[in-house]
Amino acid sequence: MSKILHIKTFGCQMNERDSEIMGQLLARSGYVYSDAPEDADLILINTCSIRDKAEQKVYSLLGQLRDLKEKKNTLRIGVCGCVAQQEGVKIIERMPHVDLVVGTQQFYQLPALLARLEGGELHQAIELDLAGDFTIPSYREVMQDNLPHLAKSTLAPVQSFVTIMQGCNNFCSYCVVPYTRGREISRPFADILDEVHQLVAQGVREITLLGQNVNSYGKSNAVAPQSLAFPDLLRAVAKTPGLVRLRFTTSHPKDLTPTLMRCFAELEQLCPHFHLPVQSGSNKVLARMHRGYSAEEYLDKVAELRRIRPDIALATDFIVGFPGESEQDFADTMQLLHRVRFHSSFSFKYSDRPQARATNFTDKVSEEIKSERLARLQGLQNEISLEWNKSSLGKKVEVMVEHNTTPKTPGETPRGRGRSAANQVVHFLLQPGQTMPAPGKLIQVLINHAGPHSLRGTLLDSCNTPSSSIHG
Ligand code: SAH
Ligand code: SF4
Ligand code: F3S
Repeated sequence: MSKILHIKTFGCQMNERDSEIMGQLLARSGYVYSDAPEDADLILINTCSIRDKAEQKVYSLLGQLRDLKEKKNTLRIGVCGCVAQQEGVKIIERMPHVDLVVGTQQFYQLPALLARLEGGELHQAIELDLAGDFTIPSYREVMQDNLPHLAKSTLAPVQSFVTIMQGCNNFCSYCVVPYTRGREISRPFADILDEVHQLVAQGVREITLLGQNVNSYGKSNAVAPQSLAFPDLLRAVAKTPGLVRLRFTTSHPKDLTPTLMRCFAELEQLCPHFHLPVQSGSNKVLARMHRGYSAEEYLDKVAELRRIRPDIALATDFIVGFPGESEQDFADTMQLLHRVRFHSSFSFKYSDRPQARATNFTDKVSEEIKSERLARLQGLQNEISLEWNKSSLGKKVEVMVEHNTTPKTPGETPRGRGRSAANQVVHFLLQPGQTMPAPGKLIQVLINHAGPHSLRGTLLDSCNTPSSSIHG
């Protein structure tokens, strides 16, 4: 009889991709995925440790699952991902109802570890070694099996993430990732292309290449046969017949080269949307963060990007209240936001992380000041995002359909959702007589409403949209 698996994923897109792969590996051992944790025989929590809050969420979820396990003693609970890697056995000491702790590079061991638990050979299992090897079976085998897109994916079936590297060597002073994900390692070029080709053959139209620092792809091993860099990879992936949109995340400003910038002008499939985390606008803070660039260097790169690709939509990350951040330093960050006018940003209050150097800095900023600065920054970003989005009012925007809903009540207007090349979420309504376009199709939407986080409009006659169109 098949067993039921439920996975709860926290954190970044790399974790989302890893969760998909875990689900696919376990499907091979007979597990069927369910969205309902109460039905599950195995619950995996794929965890994130980027900020203290993310870590606390994991413990509070584990606390809740204790009741579920008391009711159903055959239930197995596994903790994977960055908190698992960081905390190891401490998780089981604190939460003895956890059966399994699996580190960030050991999740391919899940089927074998579960078999040993089932067979009574192990009572609880912990597997944490950082393998430092991207030829681990998790990726190769799953791809060779050509398993279908997992039902639990948060993405539309026409989109997929592809992990191209793992780990990070940058050691930004606030960051836990180099400790939880290990040293940077690039996945072999041919493996990545194989995976992309298989996904596109299965109907995927949009691929996002993933890594903590994708533009240093190729600097650390595994890339064979010859030395290839990230722009080479982008060019090769863009050639995949049937691939309509290509994106990548995340890039480090210090490694952003002119060759990579030119890809935005040269590759039709590469969307004019770029996530380039700046973190702060103050040179003093950037230096203490160990980011390796100044605000001026960042602004120069932005100017060059916009010269090469004027319609590029820039997104970023900010940390507010880094230790020692003065009111003037924060004003520099606000000033940088004013100057660049990012389309969108993620912003966070600085949080101490285990092993990260800044945790030992003594000049911490109070919670109150951090909250107040975050609100100011987010207020300004919302105004700017709204202004950007409003510039689409009355215009035709090309959208890739991601989801559509059949009306529940008769007479309700059918509606769908997709994304512009600039990564804006676009909701669209059908006009009488129009048929709902399938996910993956490129459509034209006439925008009549703009909010800070999304656009709304009506579907223009699909005859206006050549189905062969492949504009990024
Ligand atoms: N590799 C990417 C992003 C890593 S984590 C990069 O280099 O930019 C995603 C974001 O979380 C970071 O960009 C940063 O803004 C935020 N972050 C990381 N560590 C943090 C910490 N200790 N406190 C608050 N925010 C943090
Ligand atoms: Fe963390 Fe810096 Fe690496 Fe990004 S580049 S993962 S912020 S250490
Ligand atoms: Fe979080 Fe680990 Fe990703 S700390 S952001 S899940 S690499």
